[in-house]
Amino acid sequence: MKKYLFALLLVLAPAFVIASESAYPLDKAPYRANDIAALQNGAKLFVNYCLNCHSASLMRYNRLKDIGLTDEQIKSNLLFSADKVGETMKVAMTVADGKKWFGAPPPDLSVITRAKSSAAGSGSDYVYTYLRSYYRDASRPTGWNNLVLQNSAMPHVFWEKQGPRELVTTLVHEHEQEGKPKTWEKVITRYDTNGVALVKKEALAEGNLHSSFSAEFTSLDKSADAQYQRDVADLVGFLSYVSDPTASIRKRLGVWVLLFLGLFGVCAWWLNSVYWREVK
Ligand code: HEC
Repeated sequence: MKKYLFALLLVLAPAFVIASESAYPLDKAPYRANDIAALQNGAKLFVNYCLNCHSASLMRYNRLKDIGLTDEQIKSNLLFSADKVGETMKVAMTVADGKKWFGAPPPDLSVITRAKSSAAGSGSDYVYTYLRSYYRDASRPTGWNNLVLQNSAMPHVFWEKQGPRELVTTLVHEHEQEGKPKTWEKVITRYDTNGVALVKKEALAEGNLHSSFSAEFTSLDKSADAQYQRDVADLVGFLSYVSDPTASIRKRLGVWVLLFLGLFGVCAWWLNSVYWREVK
């Protein structure tokens, strides 16, 4: 019995490890796979805002024909860092340069929405939440920080599009001071639009307390922010298309394959019964 329990524990151990990683909760990325206009908008945003630092070296420009663009449109609107539509989406910056300039190299984004999937959500959910969780933080070298990836080396590249936002975070945690017993405290931090933090700490009385973290953004330009949220959804839709360009064709084909198999199954069953009728 003990042996089985031990084996069960071994099987479940990774799940516990993942579950105990208390990450910032991820929002569900809206579905965009069948929305050609959204995917085209995503492609435009990607080429204009991300391809300066990130490559997508598994993606060829002419693959964008899948999302309804012509060679001509690709050439005149999207081809900045390459000469031919048959080339992959490369970037001039080397990994070493990336490290030197930003402190961390910008990863290739070809399969980022698959690479970032975890127990907390899909990779698309991760990138969607990440791009919407930037806040001004004057203490960072870039002037920006991120709730999903704390102290991210990547600046908020869309900040002008999103407009100014304030952030209030509330942290409840057990606080330890040297030589004193642990106490619970609540820390409320308000980041204004310039990234200046105002911290308020409050000791909490012992009781049924548990650690928690919550964050609330307030946008000062609601319409710019609403447009930004839609744009990020389109961009993430495009990135998830890039990470698996044949997914929607495969799904469409899958329906036909299943229909064929169903029909074929009925024919085979009927033929089988006709043949055996003679033999019997
Ligand atoms: C100015 C250069 C720059 C631009 C432009 C840029 N990034 Fe980044 N990006 C970085 C750097 C540097 C990192 C590494 C961050 C780190 O590890 O701290 C990064 C990391 C990332 C990550 C991985 C985050 C993680 O959790 O590891 C994603 C996803 C990402 N960028 C998406 C984008 C998208 C989408 C765009 C276009 C809207 C974009 N980036 C534009 C520099 C850039």
